[in-house]
Amino acid sequence: MKHPEIEKRIQDLLSKMTLEEKVGQLHQAGGSIVGAFDLSLEEILTMVQDGRMTEEEAHKMISNAKRDWHEDDLRAGRIGSYLGLVGSEEMNRMQHIAVEETRLGIPLINGFDVIHGFRTITPIPLAESCAWDTDLWERTARMSAEEAAAAGIHMTFSPMADVSKDPRWGRIAESAGEDALLNGLYGEAKVKGYQTDDLTRHDALAACVKHFAAYGAAEGGRDYNRVDMSPQRFEEEYLPSYERAVKAGARAVMPAFNDLSGVPCSVNKKLLTDILRRRWGFDGMTISDANAIAECVNHGIAEDRRDAARQALNAGMDMDMTSGCFLDHVKELVETGEVPMERLDEAVSDILRLKFELGLFDDPYRSGPEQEKAAMLTPAHRALAREAAQRSMVLLRNDGLLPLKAGLRIALAGKLAFEKDEMSGTWAGSYQPGDCKSIQDALDEEHIAYRAVAEDQPLPDCDVFLCAIGEGKNESGEAASRASLELTEADIALLKRLKESGKPVVAVVFAGRPLCLGPAVENADAILMAWHPGVEAGPAILDVLYGRVNPSAKLTAGFPSASGQCPSLYYDHIRTGRPAGKFKYTSKYLDAPVEPLFPFGFGLSYTSFRYSDISAVQTGLGIHAEITVQNIGDRAGDEIVQCYFRDPVARRVRPVRKLAAFEKAALRPGESRRIAFDIPKAAFGYYDQDMNFVIDDGLIEIHIGGNVRDTLQANVDYRSL
Ligand code: GLC
Repeated sequence: MKHPEIEKRIQDLLSKMTLEEKVGQLHQAGGSIVGAFDLSLEEILTMVQDGRMTEEEAHKMISNAKRDWHEDDLRAGRIGSYLGLVGSEEMNRMQHIAVEETRLGIPLINGFDVIHGFRTITPIPLAESCAWDTDLWERTARMSAEEAAAAGIHMTFSPMADVSKDPRWGRIAESAGEDALLNGLYGEAKVKGYQTDDLTRHDALAACVKHFAAYGAAEGGRDYNRVDMSPQRFEEEYLPSYERAVKAGARAVMPAFNDLSGVPCSVNKKLLTDILRRRWGFDGMTISDANAIAECVNHGIAEDRRDAARQALNAGMDMDMTSGCFLDHVKELVETGEVPMERLDEAVSDILRLKFELGLFDDPYRSGPEQEKAAMLTPAHRALAREAAQRSMVLLRNDGLLPLKAGLRIALAGKLAFEKDEMSGTWAGSYQPGDCKSIQDALDEEHIAYRAVAEDQPLPDCDVFLCAIGEGKNESGEAASRASLELTEADIALLKRLKESGKPVVAVVFAGRPLCLGPAVENADAILMAWHPGVEAGPAILDVLYGRVNPSAKLTAGFPSASGQCPSLYYDHIRTGRPAGKFKYTSKYLDAPVEPLFPFGFGLSYTSFRYSDISAVQTGLGIHAEITVQNIGDRAGDEIVQCYFRDPVARRVRPVRKLAAFEKAALRPGESRRIAFDIPKAAFGYYDQDMNFVIDDGLIEIHIGGNVRDTLQANVDYRSL
């Protein structure tokens, strides 16, 4: 919502700005690495992501090498923002140049990827989403903002609201999984946690919702690949999560690298203007992804960088992240009239508005070295990271082995049990090597004796094997798509070797995505999906394994039996005319099941829950559904009760299940509770062939349970009033 006082100040300032100064505000610069070779921060990040450089090498290079932040360009009014300038002292130095040494003293806005923590790294988003807990998501975002703002950051390129239905895509790690509602709620909570209701607070961060839109639907799960879908599917399954995050008050939006049905998002006026601004009323700032404007030439939508700049600005893009296309060409584009001055003024106003809303004009120096040092990795932050990790880990299998009894003799196997820095996961903010605690560290801290299993040694004598398997952090995240989701041969061989010993095996799986865990099911007596859990990885894993915490997390993305099931593995699929069955001529594979190995919403507890007495009735607002859940085990536990619906006959085929609502129930042993859901009628709406949003009369099935597969059903003959 626009504030009259700020709008007046924007107009006053705009009236004084030269064309060059306006163009300078559109440019976000990265820091060039001045050292052995001049590499931009993006190039370094890309080299890390594609494995040409380890994160430790990059970290050493970046932290040791002098950075060139192009001070002379800043003094000349050619830079409005920085990417990745970390450290309050460095930020204040650059801010001082902007405020004291440029003609109009317009402050900088500094952006950084604070994705799942800044210095206190929490579980990757896909992990944290398995807590199904908006309060937790908001609290960890708040902590991230406190640390990042203290380090001179003003805006985070987060939350990612990309629905991700294909685990081959490495960035599923940064999402809240395959469901639209969960991704929307996750994004909304993060926006609130980062921004609070007062952006001028020194510990507030502006949130930038990304990647707009449908980046998670990249064909083949291959990063940056084409996205092509019907407008109905786009509106029903992919757009809602961005809308919820934007309407939560996010002050920035980042278009995605991909094209959307042939038009790259960076130059897609339907997206950036018609939907974002006109339909949703967004008045914040749009900022491209790194170099994305220039890459419109590669897409084949722009003749050259100048044409890309023209199309992007006219489509509704405000700021150019590091490509330089705006800085090099917008002045001339305005002078020739190819970009109207009104459009340039709009873009500059969006940027100035955010700087005013952050209070940067009146209060440009928001932190300093003392506050920065005091904010990082505090005991309270570590405690929250540990809580988030405990609540993110999904117990996938337990044949009674867990929780472990104290005193059991442990043998620790698998390199990921010892490699602490792998626990940070992808996009680990300002993580410092050594900050994470591995399983080994936690056993040492708790003085729990263990023997390490060595590849070339006989198996030690023990009571139980803890076996760490899965993928490292650099096999996950951006530019880390995988064609195969199978466990490595080494992991499978290790599991088999331990199984043959006849001793019980607990598999602890580290990954940034669902993997094919069939070999773990065959060879392990228990499986804990730990994801990449952050700085408190080891302690949280022992909390769960020893039963100090009763696991309650539930999957937000299904786990495949075989890689070939992707991308049609997702839970809200349609029936088809020949639903999979025993008869040959039905929709299935010859060499793999159609069902996931572990379904959406699945997760075990150390207790058990019984569902009974489901009911559903129509009300004036929609459908009211109820069910009784009882803890029939011998220890307290939290159950995430999930309410799905199905519209079995409609004007377009509808998903076999759609998540409508969920509720967490904390139940003592023997305790029963009646859980109620009120589903608004709009939830049953969809787009017909002519793109009319319709809500049909007729049967609606309500399915409620502890995962999408195991539910009770009640039917409602829905009649619009
Ligand atoms: C990357 C990512 C985007 C990130 C940006 C800045 O390429 O796509 O998510 O915010 O560049 O690091």
